[in-house]
Amino acid sequence: MPKVVVVYLSTSGNTKAMADAIAEGVESRNVAASVMNFHEARIEEIKSADAIAIGSSTFYYKMLPPMEKFIDSLSKANVKGKTGAAFGSYGWSGEAPVMIAEKMRELGINVIDPVLRIQYQPTDKDLEECKRLGKDLANKLKKA
Ligand SMILES: Cc1cc2nc3c(=O)[nH]c(=O)nc-3n(C[C@H](O)[C@H](O)[C@H](O)COP(=O)(O)O)c2cc1C
Repeated sequence: MPKVVVVYLSTSGNTKAMADAIAEGVESRNVAASVMNFHEARIEEIKSADAIAIGSSTFYYKMLPPMEKFIDSLSKANVKGKTGAAFGSYGWSGEAPVMIAEKMRELGINVIDPVLRIQYQPTDKDLEECKRLGKDLANKLKKA
């Protein structure tokens, strides 16, 4: 069975809520999903995943440095050719998901366009959009 790993950084739970909804969307298509905070993510788990979704909220017009470090460390995880998605909650400028997608592409990950950004706390409608992204990821894996 294909597997999707959803990794997030979230300070007040907004991006985490997006991550949970993305995973729900993946699972609704009978594809396995696991959600984890970036500092719990193990390289082995990333290696064994068919797709990776990475999310972070935006702070001071970028992602927080520990998340940047985490993504850079994926160069050791053989991620080239995997499917990917970038997402995150933001307040007013929302650069982090765009920067995440850029970094993922540099690693050779095929990132779905466009990135998914939600302002502050996701509404029910926003969470539906997150589920949609999860379904899209799962469908891509099923076709592959
Ligand atoms: C100190 C601080 C700096 C922030 N800087 C930005 C910023 O530069 N651009 C932006 O779009 N949002 C910014 N935000 C807003 C957060 O991205 C927003 O509150 C987001 O919903 C937090 O999501 P999280 O709970 O997943 O961390 C900032 C928030 C704080 C507290």
